[in-house]
Amino acid sequence: MLSVRGLGVRYGRSVSALEGVDLEVATDSVVAVLGGNGAGKSTLLRAVSGTLGLHGGAITSGEIRFRDERIDRLDPAVVVRRGVVAVPEGRQVFARMTVEENLRAGGLGARSAADRTAARARVSELFPVLAERSGQRAGLLSGGEQQMLAIGRALMSGPSLLLLDEPSLGLAPQMIGRIARIVTEIHSQGTAVVLVEQNATMALQVADHAAVLEVGRIALAGPAEELAASNDVQRLYLGGHAESDEQAAAEVAQARSHRSARRLARWAG
Ligand SMILES: Nc1ncnc2c1ncn2[C@@H]1O[C@H](COP(=O)(O)OP(=O)(O)OP(=O)(O)O)[C@@H](O)[C@H]1O
Ligand SMILES: [Mg+2]
Repeated sequence: MLSVRGLGVRYGRSVSALEGVDLEVATDSVVAVLGGNGAGKSTLLRAVSGTLGLHGGAITSGEIRFRDERIDRLDPAVVVRRGVVAVPEGRQVFARMTVEENLRAGGLGARSAADRTAARARVSELFPVLAERSGQRAGLLSGGEQQMLAIGRALMSGPSLLLLDEPSLGLAPQMIGRIARIVTEIHSQGTAVVLVEQNATMALQVADHAAVLEVGRIALAGPAEELAASNDVQRLYLGGHAESDEQAAAEVAQARSHRSARRLARWAG
């Protein structure tokens, strides 16, 4: 579905942020991108969503294809219409607007009124709390609720590929577990996800494939289970998230069993 080949990115003249980066995202998959601060994770998402220019960055080599078409020279709004939508880091919501207005703004990217209505129903089902708070100003929501609103707003344009930049950052363990469950649910509804995370344990539980970025290059890539078992990943990224991990694991296991039950039902019926 998404194919990034030999991607190089620079900010200004001097800062090389990515070099020779390859990333493949299959339809119906969740791919985690792991890495420490400054590794280039956000830069990669910006390149895919066409927003590098807004940050003073530019692609210097390589190409990005989505469903076999080049998207690396398109405007961000066109990329959204093709079905690729990003949730940037930092829980960006329109703080002075209500929850409802935020979601409506997200719906402007929808292809038709029918798509918008369907997306709205999906968002209400995924995030009942947003329906309860629809008239409230987004700036007054908790951090976790703002993250849900940012994801809900992205879903309003009906993406087939969702790019999430560190959705768990700064959230309490229980909320990280909920976000993990929600990502699993979004995926089971047929949206592919690129999940950028520093919380490797959570990300590797949710993802089927993963790549590790180190100073602008892919250092490791493969099936999530293999990376979770790899000594390097264990040593570098899997220390110290114990509490949130257990919560995330429990939530994901629950969501997975619901998903397979639904799949079985669909298959049987
Ligand atoms: N707007 C910018 N202008 C100049 N340099 C930038 C800009 N944004 C990022 N960089 C540089 O590019 C490199 C990659 O940064 P990026 O934000 O992609 O990393 P990251 O993996 O997302 O880090 P974090 O986990 O801290 O969010 C870093 O060296 C950073 O300093
Ligand atoms: Mg970042």
